Amino acid sequence: MNTDEIISTAEEKLIHTYNRYPVVLDHGEGVRLYDTDGKEYLDFGAGIAVFALGYSNGPYKQALKDQIDKLIHTSNYFYNEPAMKAAVKVTEATGMDRVFFTNSGTEAIEGAIKLAKKWAYLKSGNGSTDHEIIAMKNSFHGRSMGALAVTGNKHYQEAFGPMIPGIRFAQYNDLDSVKSLVNDKTCAIILETVQGEGGVHPATKEFLTGIRELCDKKDILMILDEVQCGMGRTGSMFAYQQYGVTPDIVSMAKALGCGVPLGAFAAKEEVAKALVPGDHGSTYGGNPLACAACVSVFEQFEALHVVDNVRKVGAYMTKRFDSLAAENPYIKERRGMGLLQGLELTGLDAGKAAARCLSEGLILFTAAGNTLRFVPPLIITEADVDECVTKLERALAAVAEG
Ligand SMILES: Cc1ncc(COP(=O)(O)O)c(C=O)c1O
Repeated sequence: MNTDEIISTAEEKLIHTYNRYPVVLDHGEGVRLYDTDGKEYLDFGAGIAVFALGYSNGPYKQALKDQIDKLIHTSNYFYNEPAMKAAVKVTEATGMDRVFFTNSGTEAIEGAIKLAKKWAYLKSGNGSTDHEIIAMKNSFHGRSMGALAVTGNKHYQEAFGPMIPGIRFAQYNDLDSVKSLVNDKTCAIILETVQGEGGVHPATKEFLTGIRELCDKKDILMILDEVQCGMGRTGSMFAYQQYGVTPDIVSMAKALGCGVPLGAFAAKEEVAKALVPGDHGSTYGGNPLACAACVSVFEQFEALHVVDNVRKVGAYMTKRFDSLAAENPYIKERRGMGLLQGLELTGLDAGKAAARCLSEGLILFTAAGNTLRFVPPLIITEADVDECVTKLERALAAVAEG
C-alpha cells in the first residue's frame, strides 16, 4: 500500500474515533521517527508517553524476539516465568506487595476500582455495595465504563451515561474540596499524581500528603493513577516517590511495556488480599510476551540509568522552557515535572501549533487548556531539547503569522 492508500483505507475502514494527522509513520531510530515518504521527525510524543527507551534498544528487541521463539501466550491458569520476574520488578519499584497485570491503562483503573470496592464490601461486613469514590475534576483515567466514571470531564462522559453510581468529583489541588465530599460511604480517593491529559498539572506536596493523611484518618484507600506520569517520567520511578507519599493502590501502563500493550495495578497486601479467585481476570493480562517486555524495560532502565537521565535532561528542559515562556508572548505558562512538560499557549491555538510542529519535523501532543504536551522518550539528550525548542519557536512564529 502506498501512503495515500493507507490513509484512504483508514478513513474508510476504521471507526472514526480519532482525527489523525495525514502522516503514516513507518519506522523509528533512537528518538526519531520516519514516515512512509522518508520525512524525519524528532519524537517528543513517544506514542503518548509510551516509548521510554526510544526505538533502537537492542536488548529490549532481542528479549521480545527470544520470547516469541519460546512462548507468546499462555493462560493464567498456569505460571510463567516472565510474569513472575515482572511481578518482582513492579512490586520492588512501587513498594507494593502484589500486582495484577492488564493490557492497558484503562483496565488498570478498572481493576483498581474493583479492588477498592471489594475491599470496602468486605470491610463493611454486611454485604453493602453503596460505597463512594472521590475522583478529581479535570482528570483522565481512560475510556472504559469504570475508568470513564472517574474521569472528571463531562465532555468524555456525556453520551455514555448512566455512569456507575457513587462517584463524586473534587477540585484537584484543593484539599478542602476533597474533605467536603468525604462521608462514611467513601471507600477510595483516586487521582493522578500529575494530571496529564488535563493539561499537565502536578499535585502540590500539601495536596498529596493531605490526601494521604485524610485516607489514613478515615480508613479510605488512596489510589494513584501513574499510567502517564509513572515509569521514570517525572524523575523518579513513580512520581509519588518525590512526595514522600505511598498510595494503597497504584495503576501504571504506557512505558511499562514500552510499546507492547501492558498495564498493571499494584497494592499493599492488606488491600490486595480482598481479591480472590473468580473476582477478576484477563485472558491476555500478564502474558509471557508482554511480561518479557516489562522485565527488559526495567533492566534497560537500570543499564542506561534512565531515571538519572530524566532528572538531568528534565532539569535542562525545564530551564529552556522557562526561558522560552519568559520571552515568547504566545506561551503563558510552563508546567510539569521531569520529562512530562506542558506549555500553555495564549493567543494561539495549541492544536494548530502542534500541527505546525509536525510540518517542522517535531511530534508532540496537546492536552486540555490549550496546552502543548511534551512526553519524549526518556533517553533524549540536551541537544534533542535544543532542537525541539528551535522547531517549536519556528512553528509558533509560523502559526502567529497565519
Ligand atoms: C492518567 C491516565 N490514566 C489512564 C489512561 C488510560 O490508558 P490507556 O489509554 O492505556 O487505556 C491514560 C491514557 O492516556 C492516562 O493518561
